[in-house]
Amino acid sequence: THRAPSTPSTAGAPSTAITNIGVLITNDPSLGPGPLGPVRDAAVVIEGDRIVWTGTSSRAPATDSHYDAGGGAVVPGFVDSHSHLLFAGDRTAEFHARMSGRPYTAGGIRTTVAATRRATDAELSANLAAFLREMLRQGTTTVETKSGYGLTVADEARALRIATEHTEEVTYLGAHVVPPEHAASPEDYVALVTGPMLDACAPYARWIDVFCERGAFDAGQARAVLAAGRARGLRPRVHANQLGPGPGVRLAVEAGARSADHCTHLTDADVDALAQGGTVATLLPGCEFSTRAPYPDARRLLDAGAVVALASDCNPGSSFTSSMPFCVAVAVREMGMTPDEALWSATAGGAAALDRTDVGRLAPGARADLVLLDAPSPVHLAYRPGVPLVAAVWRRGRREL
Ligand code: NIG
Ligand code: FE
Repeated sequence: THRAPSTPSTAGAPSTAITNIGVLITNDPSLGPGPLGPVRDAAVVIEGDRIVWTGTSSRAPATDSHYDAGGGAVVPGFVDSHSHLLFAGDRTAEFHARMSGRPYTAGGIRTTVAATRRATDAELSANLAAFLREMLRQGTTTVETKSGYGLTVADEARALRIATEHTEEVTYLGAHVVPPEHAASPEDYVALVTGPMLDACAPYARWIDVFCERGAFDAGQARAVLAAGRARGLRPRVHANQLGPGPGVRLAVEAGARSADHCTHLTDADVDALAQGGTVATLLPGCEFSTRAPYPDARRLLDAGAVVALASDCNPGSSFTSSMPFCVAVAVREMGMTPDEALWSATAGGAAALDRTDVGRLAPGARADLVLLDAPSPVHLAYRPGVPLVAAVWRRGRREL
């Protein structure tokens, strides 16, 4: 409970205290017992876009204004480190067919590519803004999102340009699938992705991603994509081992990817690589839920010592949920995570997957991204699945819900 050094963004800004917090989840083990660092009967003081004080309510300093949390739990805003929100149309018919017994294949991506190419910039931007609002209502305050439904130089670049107007976590996924017009010559498409398309996209993106999977890109192609991106200052992340076992996870660790995402089909060697390397294992329960696939084994990864993140993978094909509380509930019920582990993975874990230290925790100096739950304990996120528990959201110190 110390004061953070004043930063230019907070100096002189009015201060607000959120008081009467039943339990505050800080994700800072120096502030409370265990990884979640819980503080009971807590208060948080916000100045500008930052947290400047956390501690026991009775010791809170005087502030310009205050908000009574009514004894509810306060958690860090969810950090959704994996979504695909630059698209148009939906795939209701594909989902309906799948729930009638048809298997999921990545081939449906091409349906969304066709609809996305036809959309105007204004439509793509409005769709993205609507999803971000939907996410905010469910407590998500940091969102990574990707291209990957344009698959031409102009369509990938415009998707990323639009994304930068809404979020700082932008990922270039030109290597999502080979589009129909390059079906006869996938190597030409890889050359485009690592050449002119990268040139057009790199200025807008922080990350580069590749779907390393049978039916998408093989290990050699994936390595080439990540290396080209790195040479342009983009940091790697990988869609790995989603539909079957494969080289994606080990390739991600070797390439120094910040995160390997999906991790559904893992060998012991994959688990060891994740536990020993610096790559976060990002699990996407909405995907297995919506494709009727077996869930990834979070317990196995955690017991091996891997860092695990949870994200929505929100996209119109494999996982059309934007809800982190839903992902937490499924991870607890189906993937062997404790409620505490799932909450950590949906907040601090997501921050780790994005290599961010300013979000995913509620300690002095962190961004004031907070969620007040209409519940006395964050365990309710898993205990009361499907119930809208998000009562209020502050993002960058401003009350947005
Ligand atoms: O993360 N795996 C590849 N991409 C998406 C699915 C995209 C789609 O089906 O439209 C995913 O699951
Ligand atoms: Fe994805």
